[in-house]
Amino acid sequence: MPLSLENVSYVYMKGTPYERRAVDNVSLEIQKGEFVALIGHSGSGKSTLAQHMAGLLPPLAGQVKIDGTDPCAKGKEALTARRKAGLVFQYPEHQLFAETVFDDVAFGPRNLGLAEEEVRERAATALDFAQMPIEEFGARSPFQLSGGQMRKAAIAGVIAMRPDYLILDEPTAGFDPLARGLFYEELKNLHKKSGMAVIMITHSMEEAIELARRLLVMSGGRIIIDGQPERIFREQRGELLAAGVTAPAIVSLTDRLRAHGFSINADCLDADDLVAELLAVLPGKGPGDAR
Ligand SMILES: Nc1ncnc2c1ncn2[C@@H]1O[C@H](COP(=O)(O)OP(=O)(O)OP(=O)(O)O)[C@@H](O)[C@H]1O
Ligand SMILES: [Mg+2]
Repeated sequence: MPLSLENVSYVYMKGTPYERRAVDNVSLEIQKGEFVALIGHSGSGKSTLAQHMAGLLPPLAGQVKIDGTDPCAKGKEALTARRKAGLVFQYPEHQLFAETVFDDVAFGPRNLGLAEEEVRERAATALDFAQMPIEEFGARSPFQLSGGQMRKAAIAGVIAMRPDYLILDEPTAGFDPLARGLFYEELKNLHKKSGMAVIMITHSMEEAIELARRLLVMSGGRIIIDGQPERIFREQRGELLAAGVTAPAIVSLTDRLRAHGFSINADCLDADDLVAELLAVLPGKGPGDAR
């Protein structure tokens, strides 16, 4: 069963002069095993939507269901549903609270009532995922970490819960390029191994298409595009632009090459795709039109 939203709307400070509709009639379904990127301009409602997906914010209208259960209801079944979705907040310092990194990461598993041995094993595995070995970081205060390390500790805390739906709100903000690359690899492996769904909010289209096979684009609180990246860049460039989101540089470069007469038919999403296409059409480099 999926994580589903049906006609979900949310308004901040309703009934005041500052009223703000952050999520506007959103319906979507995310199946276990999917890797979805959620992209959209600042203020488009991504973080608010993420909190609904995790069952942390009850919708003003509409329904959220995690594997068929309303996570915002009372009772044990709703608690189980909430635990299936793990959200890493946009600002990880909002999520960290314990005296040590270990206690922070162990908090969730302890709450599940697991034996201390398993709690430790889960915390150690999650900290390995975050490239923050328990021996080196376990005893440190989370508040004396760098911004990037804080974010990774917050991610570890959610990973340790082993959610079925992992929701990451701009997980690589503040990472240096090396840390970002390592994080992508770890996340790809985790996704493949665990069968969990990953929903990743990002401002980087490059990051979105490197990882996700499904792209959701948000604008003004609505999901205005939902589909496969290749098809979106081929067919919905106007809508993308209207949402304030640009296609990746490789897609624009491919357009320009086409405008100069290169016959590139395939959808190129990264440099390797484009190089393969160019080699096929350049004289003396392979089959295709000699230019
Ligand atoms: N706690 C809040 N109180 C009042 N308004 C809020 C609150 N949080 C968000 N908003 C408003 O709701 C709208 C959506 O905000 P949200 O944080 O969900 O957007 P976002 O897409 O995550 O933006 P960003 O890319 O900057 O993180 C914005 O207009 C924002 O100003
Ligand atoms: Mg946000």
